[in-house]
Amino acid sequence: MRTADPATGDAVFVLQLKKDEYSALSAVCPHARCVVDKPKDGKLVCPCHRSVFDATTGEVLVGPAKTGLPKYGLTRSGDRLELGPQES
Ligand code: FES
Repeated sequence: MRTADPATGDAVFVLQLKKDEYSALSAVCPHARCVVDKPKDGKLVCPCHRSVFDATTGEVLVGPAKTGLPKYGLTRSGDRLELGPQES
């Protein structure tokens, strides 16, 4: 699912890793701020210069990006997931 950081409006992907296990990653590539494509085969690919990121951790797998996608906190409130602040 794609949502937005309420503070900046930047795109964020909320990903289900396992049953009841989720992560939230910035969708904004740290190389030059293009929005990465939706997750596919466990990876997020930037369409601008083809950096590849691990869709579970946000770690950069292939440059030119030198850093991974920042993570966001997530809290569960009943059936809802609420996006917290950017963590890294
Ligand atoms: S903006 Fe993503 S690789 Fe350049």
